[in-house]
Amino acid sequence: MKLAVVGGGSTYTPELIDGFARLRDTLPITELVLVDPAADRLDLVGGLARRIFAKQEHDGAITTTTDLDAAVEGADAVLLQLRVGGQAARNQDETWPLECGCVGQETTGAGGLAKALRTVPVVLDIAERVRRANPDAWIIDFTNPVGIVTRALLNAGHKAVGLCNVAIGFQRKFAKLLGVAPSEVHLDHVGLNHLTWETGVRLGGPAGEDVLPRLLAEHGDALAGDLHLPRLVMDRFGVVPSYYLRYYYAHDEVVAELRTKPSRAAEVAAMEKELLEMYGDPALDEKPELLAKRGGAFYSEAAVDLAASLLGGGGSPYQVVNTYNNGTLPFLPDDAVIETQAAVGPGGAVPLPVAPVDPLYAGLIANVTAYEDLALDAALRGGRERVFKALLAHPLVGQYAYAEQLTDRLIAHNREHLAWA
Ligand code: G6P
Ligand code: MN
Repeated sequence: MKLAVVGGGSTYTPELIDGFARLRDTLPITELVLVDPAADRLDLVGGLARRIFAKQEHDGAITTTTDLDAAVEGADAVLLQLRVGGQAARNQDETWPLECGCVGQETTGAGGLAKALRTVPVVLDIAERVRRANPDAWIIDFTNPVGIVTRALLNAGHKAVGLCNVAIGFQRKFAKLLGVAPSEVHLDHVGLNHLTWETGVRLGGPAGEDVLPRLLAEHGDALAGDLHLPRLVMDRFGVVPSYYLRYYYAHDEVVAELRTKPSRAAEVAAMEKELLEMYGDPALDEKPELLAKRGGAFYSEAAVDLAASLLGGGGSPYQVVNTYNNGTLPFLPDDAVIETQAAVGPGGAVPLPVAPVDPLYAGLIANVTAYEDLALDAALRGGRERVFKALLAHPLVGQYAYAEQLTDRLIAHNREHLAWA
């Protein structure tokens, strides 16, 4: 089995490699190619990746290349984990929206739109080249904003599934609190990528007992603390929102907070520098502790699970993925991309039925879906008016004057990445 990782020079890659090594029975990789335009990073990350495989006695071959077409040749699955413009562009996304009183975040709000505009054309070009090399290959997209990027891929007819680690993070956390194996925990997970609520936590499978009320009663403080939201938000409605909902439910508080500290991109850039120095040490043969300070916990396990199921192996029967709605949430168009529990196999991901969604969540989900629709249109066709419309439609922008200011800033800060600007 051959896998290619696009953006393989990422400092995150050792997390992935560690998962591939530990879970080799689920996903028997014989050949792994890390591809990245940054040759210097590839050397460092590739070296450590080989040492991790060697230490864990994984005999799969790891190669590195800057040549995308060669990398994806014959690959059964291609993982996309790239970041157009790197942390520098992310830093901009997290900074200029604050000037207009809007949250500065890499996937939510105006910063997320900027990221979508930079990313969608690049990902579509890569996907086209994957298809040319091997029309049967599966594309697993980690590249943010995952909802919009996955929608772009599916609309272009690619064999793609979008993935995020938020759900697996909750699954692991709840399993620990409940004292059961993660595979015993099935989430009723509703919404869009980075806009989800856990409305139930079932034991054993989709029809199992819902223990969410018990979890909230016994561990409410701990769960709320992790989300930095008042416990009341969960107790009142009996759901657990993802921490991305904080950007909505506590928007102004977050903006005030972000104005007082360095951006997450700046923090991450400093960590990356340190990580790359560590990766260059020939004595290092495992993923370093420092990597745990990044947001991507468990993402390797989610990737292994998904790739194993798509490639016909032994992944979990149900997984939380990003795919077409196809009637699952009746208040959204069929071609909206939702993040949902799905039955996953070699034919792809088929969403499980979802119980009727409370208007409290359905309204926001529908609103952000409309924004994503306009965002994708702006990413594909460009133009100031399309950017403006997407921003005006975003529930965190909404006002004419802000949308105008944000549009100008977005374009000014991203000109080098936008062919039309
Ligand atoms: C979580 C999200 C990812 C995001 C990451 C950022 O894992 O699900 O989509 O890329 O956080 O983590 P970072 O360490 O880069 O801030
Ligand atoms: Mn994510």
